[in-house]
Amino acid sequence: MKITYLGHASLSIETAGKTLLVDPFISANELAKHIDINSLKADYILITHAHQDHILDVATLAKNTGALIVSNYEIVTHFEKQGFTGHPMNHGGTWQFDFGKLTYTNAVHSSSFPDGSYGGEPGGFVIESNGKVIYIAGDTALTMDMQLIPMQTKLDLAVLPVGDNFTMGIKSAVIAADFLACNQILAYHFDTFGFIKIDHQEAITYFKNKGKNLTILPIGESKTI
Ligand code: NI
Ligand code: MN
Repeated sequence: MKITYLGHASLSIETAGKTLLVDPFISANELAKHIDINSLKADYILITHAHQDHILDVATLAKNTGALIVSNYEIVTHFEKQGFTGHPMNHGGTWQFDFGKLTYTNAVHSSSFPDGSYGGEPGGFVIESNGKVIYIAGDTALTMDMQLIPMQTKLDLAVLPVGDNFTMGIKSAVIAADFLACNQILAYHFDTFGFIKIDHQEAITYFKNKGKNLTILPIGESKTI
């Protein structure tokens, strides 16, 4: 599984011969100017919740690639009304796709579309593919529900928001790593706006002192597990 960080909460995951894009918010991200969205491939677009900083480029990318949109029922319905095809899920549900299994997990956050309409309840994803398991938390607070995940699977990597203010921050993310029984963490949802700027070295050191590894990828760089 190869995970490429596309800035903010956007990821590209290559696995089992397929490409999954997660929460594409690229074209309006000053920090991701070097990423050309027209060069991105996708077989699937996974959306954690309806906020603008997670869905901005979905329509463009779905049009470019013909990718299947996977999210909660409300978000999938929203995009189906625009003519796209999707696969609706809801919390706790798992579905077998051709690349592997996806589970839509709980998140403590909000989820409205940019016009204020209801975007369903926010979530995250567990992706099981090619013998590896990763958890993408979505925008969330630290939540006790994270403890349910290692009761059902063994994670190789957890992608957690660390920017604070809108989501959990560094200290909560370390506790989340304990709840998830996973010491390999990839940071996302930081630095994009003033409210979520973090000190990278301080964050890495804080994790290290707790016996955990925090990876902060430059935008456009990848990690393979
Ligand atoms: Ni959000
Ligand atoms: Mn967000």
